[in-house]
Amino acid sequence: MNINLIYASLTGNTEALSELIVEKFKDDKNIDVKLNFVEDMSDYSLLEDSDAFIIATYTYGDGDLPEEMEDLYNTIPSLNLNGKIYGVVGTGDTTYDEFCVCVDQFDKQIKKAGGVNPTSNLKIEIEADCDEDFENINKFIEDFSNALKEK
Ligand SMILES: Cc1cc2nc3c(=O)[nH]c(=O)nc-3n(C[C@H](O)[C@H](O)[C@H](O)COP(=O)(O)O)c2cc1C
Repeated sequence: MNINLIYASLTGNTEALSELIVEKFKDDKNIDVKLNFVEDMSDYSLLEDSDAFIIATYTYGDGDLPEEMEDLYNTIPSLNLNGKIYGVVGTGDTTYDEFCVCVDQFDKQIKKAGGVNPTSNLKIEIEADCDEDFENINKFIEDFSNALKEK
């Protein structure tokens, strides 16, 4: 199966979360997930070509999308994602009013394009460092891989 995770990360937190998720998919489920840094991508047909995908984003400004994610976000409506399994994860900081809102923004945008999200949006404060974070990550991986089995 061709499963891709596409991430943005300025200071490394979302990259670390993405790496952790990829590692856990392999260790816990023997599922290979390829990591793609959004700034290295020239187009986004990878989303259509994937059997399933995961978006990992941080939130910037005052609840703003990372600048390097805007192009991807704006391209999603033109992609055929009908029935495509996806999930959205991200890091943020609760000292900001709009905690991790870009995770929900991406979820809505992909849902509108026909994607099917079997997971709950995963929001991590800075980095995964407590039982609740790891439980939520495990649940995300469980829900995502169960949906792949049903495909
Ligand atoms: C200028 C600035 C604005 C930010 N705005 C928000 C925000 O609105 N909501 C939020 O949840 N986090 C916000 N953050 C926190 C980042 O999303 C958080 O540090 C995230 O883990 C960064 O991810 P990265 O290390 O992958 O770049 C902001 C951080 C900075 C520096």
